[in-house]
Amino acid sequence: MKITQKGHSNIQEIDFNNLKFGATFSDHMLICKHKDGKWGEAEIMSYQPLPMMPGTQVFHYGQSVFEGMKAFKTDQGKVLLFREEDNFNRLNKSAKRLCIPEIPKEIFMDGLHEILNLDSEWVKQGDNFSLYIRPFIFASGQCIKATISDEYTFMIICSPTTTYYEGDMQVKIEQKYTRAVKGGTGAVKAAGNYAASFYATKLAREKGFSQIIWTDAENHEYLEEAGTMNVWIRIDDTLITPKLSDTILGGITRDSVVQLAKDMGIEVEERAISISELKEAHQNGRLKEAFGTGTAVSVIFIGSITLDENKMQFPKQVDSYARKLKANLTAIQHGKIADNHGWTTEVESSVASH
Ligand code: COI
Repeated sequence: MKITQKGHSNIQEIDFNNLKFGATFSDHMLICKHKDGKWGEAEIMSYQPLPMMPGTQVFHYGQSVFEGMKAFKTDQGKVLLFREEDNFNRLNKSAKRLCIPEIPKEIFMDGLHEILNLDSEWVKQGDNFSLYIRPFIFASGQCIKATISDEYTFMIICSPTTTYYEGDMQVKIEQKYTRAVKGGTGAVKAAGNYAASFYATKLAREKGFSQIIWTDAENHEYLEEAGTMNVWIRIDDTLITPKLSDTILGGITRDSVVQLAKDMGIEVEERAISISELKEAHQNGRLKEAFGTGTAVSVIFIGSITLDENKMQFPKQVDSYARKLKANLTAIQHGKIADNHGWTTEVESSVASH
């Protein structure tokens, strides 16, 4: 790996207590190209613009996949990555679905650890802080024929973060637009999935909602995902989240929460949730809480769910499962309690030859 360290860090100019999600970037980035059928040498350099021709394929056909992962700092100053293998595997699952060449594990892992070594100061201590890591691969060949590319670029960039949304989310159930269809790309992190979701989300935002809950494409009757998150509800003392399918992204936070809830003795069901069930549970006073999970948001409370003109509100629970799960997850991620599932990895000191 070739490393060119940035001469002067601009970290002193950053107000870490007023970060806007995803708008500040750390000092370094990684770049690696796939040409003539193989991945070349990865390079780490200062975060900088990319020279790209207007005919670059990703601009025209959106052949691009990404990941979202986080690094945390412990009270002892160690940098921990959370479930990095799972992000690596999911990136390659997405790549395969989009006809993008899979990234070799050593390029991904060595690059990730090296960049975090260089930018470890950007991972701040404190429960609210993390460094959001964005690995992505896109078609960087130049040709505007609608076909797969002859060149791809893998990159990693990092962005210090605090919270994604301010306060609880007020969401609306979407019954007109669709995020994913059977046989489509909903189960992978294709950039185009997000582009296609913006319009319905924008309409909902204009009405004062923070996000939407997508429903199934055929009947708009079953809950799928909440915007960029997996969705959860609690009926009585059971937590329910939609079962994974080819229209739902297998969230790594979702999987962690399934496990943590089970560890805490909470009953978890992964199954279809219909709007009728939701309405009925609310009418009977059995719908106790709702929340979203995702890397960027961690665990986030849903304050209300609106269906047509009916707003179902969730009063704060004294024994909120979401609060307990979030506290538990955050404590594991920051190395404060035992990591019984082996989810965290300490960032190794330099692995590459300079
Ligand atoms: C994540 O939680 O990492 C996501 O992918 C959401 C992102 C679009 C900010």
